[in-house]
Amino acid sequence: MILEEHVDHVLIDRERVQTRVGELAAEISRDYAGVDDLLLVCVLKGAFMFLADLSRRLTIPHAIDFMAVSSYGASTESSGIVRIIMDLETSILDRHVLVVEDIIDSGRTLDYTTRNLSTRGPASLRICTLLDKKERRMIPIPVDYIGFEIPDEFVIGYGLDFVELYRNLPFIGVLKPEFYE
Ligand code: IMP
Ligand code: MG
Repeated sequence: MILEEHVDHVLIDRERVQTRVGELAAEISRDYAGVDDLLLVCVLKGAFMFLADLSRRLTIPHAIDFMAVSSYGASTESSGIVRIIMDLETSILDRHVLVVEDIIDSGRTLDYTTRNLSTRGPASLRICTLLDKKERRMIPIPVDYIGFEIPDEFVIGYGLDFVELYRNLPFIGVLKPEFYE
């Protein structure tokens, strides 16, 4: 079985992803210049690859921490019920927090996550997402950094999964319908 054969089409190829990640890293490095306690909060699992590439391209000091949140079962639709599966290891009190997400769809996951984080007294709280399915938004979320706006299609690759598969693909692609039916 060749994983690539499950892909209907490539939406954003590896090179475009990498170029955009570099641009975001440059923008964030500029915006946070002089901030010495930046904390990147990676929302697992989908954002792990984006976080890894983004972090490597930031030119400013920063710490990283991880948090796992789930709003999906084995489906391509958000259930609307958000759970924290794994919380941060560190306190974010008085720290500058940048939440790193893979994709914003309905907005439910990030709405819940940012509300939760903001009760912990961060010095600032911003959001960076690689992908934004804007037309699907149910809850408005102020997003500070967006990699790409994408159409309403279920995407996989570069960290994003369908039933835990395809995260390792180096591009963002659309799955063939026969694989999620
Ligand atoms: P929201 O709560 O509806 O905004 O969903 C956000 C979460 O759903 C993301 O963090 C992803 O984990 C997942 N998700 C949403 N759309 C997709 C997709 O097209 N492919 C893979 N995962 C997705
Ligand atoms: Mg996610």
